[in-house]
Amino acid sequence: MKLSHTSSLRGEITVPGDKSISHRSIMLGSIATGKTEISGFLKSADCISTMNAFRAMGIEITEENDIITVNGKGLYGLQAPNETIDCGNSGTTTRILSGILAGQSFETTLTGDESIQKRPMKRVIDPLSEMGASITSVKGNGCAPLNIKPSQLHGTHITTKVASAQVKSAVILAGLYADGETTLTEPSLSRNHTELMLSSFGADIRSGSFEDPTAVIVPGNELHGQKITVPGDISSAAYFIGAGLITPDSEILVKNVGINPTRDGLIRVFKAMNANLELLNVREVAGEKVADILVKTSELKGTEISGDIIPTLIDELPLIAVVATQAEGETVIKDAAELKVKESNRIDLTVNNLKAMGADAEATDDGMIIRGKSELHHAQINTAKDHRIAMSFSIASLINADVQPVDILDAGCVNISYPEFYKDLDSLKK
Ligand code: S3P
Repeated sequence: MKLSHTSSLRGEITVPGDKSISHRSIMLGSIATGKTEISGFLKSADCISTMNAFRAMGIEITEENDIITVNGKGLYGLQAPNETIDCGNSGTTTRILSGILAGQSFETTLTGDESIQKRPMKRVIDPLSEMGASITSVKGNGCAPLNIKPSQLHGTHITTKVASAQVKSAVILAGLYADGETTLTEPSLSRNHTELMLSSFGADIRSGSFEDPTAVIVPGNELHGQKITVPGDISSAAYFIGAGLITPDSEILVKNVGINPTRDGLIRVFKAMNANLELLNVREVAGEKVADILVKTSELKGTEISGDIIPTLIDELPLIAVVATQAEGETVIKDAAELKVKESNRIDLTVNNLKAMGADAEATDDGMIIRGKSELHHAQINTAKDHRIAMSFSIASLINADVQPVDILDAGCVNISYPEFYKDLDSLKK
């Protein structure tokens, strides 16, 4: 897809539902008793992978007037699927589902696309095995396909090496099926949507905090279907927030954005970069903090991004790197080696694409350094079919200084998290 620069961006936008919360609403709805009604569900390829996985295990999921209804069958109501479960491109589906499947009385195999089959799964295999699960990498390479056989799970204390909400959620959900309390300590607090939602479904769960990132799950309670309102995804809102900051003469109101403190690192970083952005109408919707975000063109300065803030903005780092090319001075991103094992190696891809556009960017072992301000030029953008790279560089194309457009390869990969992305971006161009 070819994208050209724009003179300004103006207007209002409502981004689609949060991807993490949408996945969890189907998962918890399926293992709860009774109906779960979900509004604001994200109908993107990743969340549809989760829906299809539970449909394959006998869960009826229907849609009417934009409300998704999951007819949950309780903790022990899933049925053995007829074939291997295909998780598509979704790491969230593969990893979190493996925790639920570890507690079932039937055998399953999970796989996914080419990218999924290269992503590290040892991070869920190890802690689930510590709990007594029988879970193996079929090819013995620590990646999917994963085979999971029935076994009795035990409550234990797990300490993880990476701050990963997918791993944490897999362990917590396996903990629902264990014979005692499970605790999990992560190096820094990752997103806590599983903990918040489980609590509203009636589970006995304690969420960790930034000071003490230890979650505790006590099995024994039945889960009860709920009404869930999914807030807009801050990881999708991020593109418009970044776009508004770096495009001249711009003012955008991004409405209904989830700003859970385990997800709002982008806002904290942009404020430290001198961004003109305001949180309006801050409220709580179904246990999650939500706001409208007003953003205006800003004179940005570089910053350092490292430590505990990284898990709270991990998916936004490619976009932050694009924005940093328009900030005065150096932006240093550290402690973000996780970027190498996302849908693509996001350190290398971001830096290579930034350089191709003329930015001063350097990859490091655990992050990158961007020196601004640079004028960006047209280039061919290699996305490796990674949705977040495609969207981040669509934002870079808005300020491309030449007449020739930026060419985003495999641009359709935005379907993974934001099918209407290009249409929504176009609607703001003035
Ligand atoms: C997610 C957790 C994060 C994030 C991913 C969604 C989730 O991954 O990058 O897009 O919904 O739990 P990790 O758990 O690997 O950090």
